[in-house]
Amino acid sequence: MNKIGSILDFDSIDSTSKYLKENYIAFKDFTFVSSLYQTSGKGRMDRSWESNKGENLLFSLLIKKKTLLKLYSSISILSSTVILSVLKEYNIDNVMIKWPNDVYIDDKKVCGILLESISTSENLECIVLGIGLNVNQKEFMNDNATSMSIKLKKDINLKELKEKIYNRLMEELEKLEEGKSGYLSTIRLNNYLKNKEVYAIIDNEKVLSKVIDINDDNSIKVESNNKTYNLFSGEITFHV
Ligand code: BTN
Repeated sequence: MNKIGSILDFDSIDSTSKYLKENYIAFKDFTFVSSLYQTSGKGRMDRSWESNKGENLLFSLLIKKKTLLKLYSSISILSSTVILSVLKEYNIDNVMIKWPNDVYIDDKKVCGILLESISTSENLECIVLGIGLNVNQKEFMNDNATSMSIKLKKDINLKELKEKIYNRLMEELEKLEEGKSGYLSTIRLNNYLKNKEVYAIIDNEKVLSKVIDINDDNSIKVESNNKTYNLFSGEITFHV
């Protein structure tokens, strides 16, 4: 894939994703923005994303290519499989993906992914893929968070790691476009939620259900009272 976008590195910014969303018209496809610190990092469901300065990876990728914009829900899962495979390259074991795109090590979250889009009344204009990966931070306010260095008991070179992830992401997006990506088998093999109980929103009611698998259309299959349901992100809450 032509790496036509530039790579921009900041010391500090409000949010790498917000920056790309505000400037998506001016920036070329696949512009990649990273920062050592975010003053207003954003997580899913309007949460904030906290990260010590210079200890973790915080970056966002702008996607404008029409063939990829159609693959929104695949890009969400595919990004988590990219992080999983890079973590495995660092010899980290017990890495799992919590559908649709959180990455866990030893039952704790190491990476959060936020996929956002900008649409006009007629068109989906772009996707901004934002990734926060905990790398060298040792202490977290949240008990449910971990980092690569906590697991490996050593620090990791951030620049090398960032380049690996960027290159892998570009390769995998190209495979996805060509219909050659193996991301579904990767999440199925490393599915954190498999056989766990979640609350599913079925007919506007929260129902305790068991996760069965991930479907080809990227939805999650759950079972409740001997019936199966295929749900999309936003239709399940977790109880694990
Ligand atoms: C989550 O809540 O799990 C998603 C967290 C996504 C955080 C990343 S850090 C880089 C990018 N910029 C942001 O403001 N958020 C995303």
